[in-house]
Amino acid sequence: MDIVMISFQKHGDDRGQLVALEENKEVPFNIKRVYYMYDTGEGVHRGFHAHKNLQQILICVHGSCKIRLDNGKEKKVVVLDKPYEGLYVSNNMWREMYDFSKDAVLMVLASQLYDENDYIRDYDEFLRFVKREED
Ligand code: TYD
Repeated sequence: MDIVMISFQKHGDDRGQLVALEENKEVPFNIKRVYYMYDTGEGVHRGFHAHKNLQQILICVHGSCKIRLDNGKEKKVVVLDKPYEGLYVSNNMWREMYDFSKDAVLMVLASQLYDENDYIRDYDEFLRFVKREED
C-alpha cells in the first residue's frame, strides 16, 4: 500500500513562509470543496469511513495529528505535522483521524462537493465493496 505524500513548494523569505496550492498543479484534481477541523477534543477519533468517488488532500496546516489508512488488506499510520505536506487519499480507503494536538488545524481539499451517498460508513460494507471492486 503506497502512501502518497506531496511536499509543496515553500515560498519562504525573511518574512516567513507561504505555500500556494492550485488545482491540477500542486493538487492533482479540481478542487470543489475545502473543509477543516479545529478545536478537536483530546482523545477524539473521527473519520471511520471510506469514499467511492472522492480524491482528497489532507494538510495539517497547524499542529499535528495522525491518519490511519486501511485499504482492506493493509493499514498504515501517517503523522501530519508540517504545513507544507499533503497526504493524498483516494477512493476505497478507510480512514481514521486521531491524536490531534490541541492547536491542530486539519484542512482537507476535496475533488467533489459533499455527498452523503458517496460515504461508506460501515466497515464490513467497506470490506465487501473493496473485494467487489477487485473481482
Ligand atoms: P463527519 O462526516 O462526521 O466528519 P468526519 O467523519 O470526517 O469526522 O462530518 C461532521 C458534520 O459536518 C456532518 O454533519 C456533515 C458535515 N459536513 C458537511 O456539511 N460538509 C462537509 O464537507 C463535511 C466533510 C462534513
